[in-house]
Amino acid sequence: MGLTKEEMKKMRRIGKVVAETIEVMRDHLEPGITTGELDDIGRDVLERHGARSAPELVYDFPGATCISVNERAAHGIPGDLVVEPGDLVNIDVSAELDGFFADSGASFGVDPIDDAKQDLLDATKEALEKAMSMARHGRPIKLVGRVVQGMADERGYTVIRNLGGHGIGRKLHQRPSFIPHFFDRREKRRFQEGQVLTLEPFLAMGARRVEELDDGWTLRTENHGLVAQFEHTLVITRGEPIVLTRRSDEVQ
Ligand code: CO
Ligand code: CO
Repeated sequence: MGLTKEEMKKMRRIGKVVAETIEVMRDHLEPGITTGELDDIGRDVLERHGARSAPELVYDFPGATCISVNERAAHGIPGDLVVEPGDLVNIDVSAELDGFFADSGASFGVDPIDDAKQDLLDATKEALEKAMSMARHGRPIKLVGRVVQGMADERGYTVIRNLGGHGIGRKLHQRPSFIPHFFDRREKRRFQEGQVLTLEPFLAMGARRVEELDDGWTLRTENHGLVAQFEHTLVITRGEPIVLTRRSDEVQ
């Protein structure tokens, strides 16, 4: 396991491209724009860097990025949906450059959003930060679920159980497979130095599962309640992980 210097360089490069893509899309997120227009903006950024959309490349997804609004948690297909004030919009970008993949996501509130929605965003973001701070060589992977579940319980939210983090690198999804963000005592694996993986908690208002819509892609909460997600790609070390997909707007 572990990356060579050259591989690490490539991972850093695609991590930056993914981060920039989300940033540019976020800057254009305002009432009246359609998710299809937002996706075109994301595609331009990827293409400018010579990167390829991972969902298109790997899964034939009908869009360059996944844009999921309100009760839609993930894999939302960009299209005619018009963004409205008060929406929660999740932008998830994964892409490949030079044989390496990175994956990141963030939920944004379209102003004006109420305190309840802002709190869901804040709690989910904090859950990711806390989970990342636990992730280091030798520690049990189930700590991720413990801290995310703990944060959700404390703030009155639920954790989506059928979505999880995943290894990434030469593939979009590789080992370690499914990293639970709920507390799972059967989870026996430990983090290993050099592992590249995503952490991506989904916190929701009452839902514990997402289900696929008839379009064959979109994952919506089972109770049609709101959901938020934040995701980063990171490299496990003996200390703090190296986060490859940080955006410039994020305070560390
Ligand atoms: Co993602
Ligand atoms: Co992911």
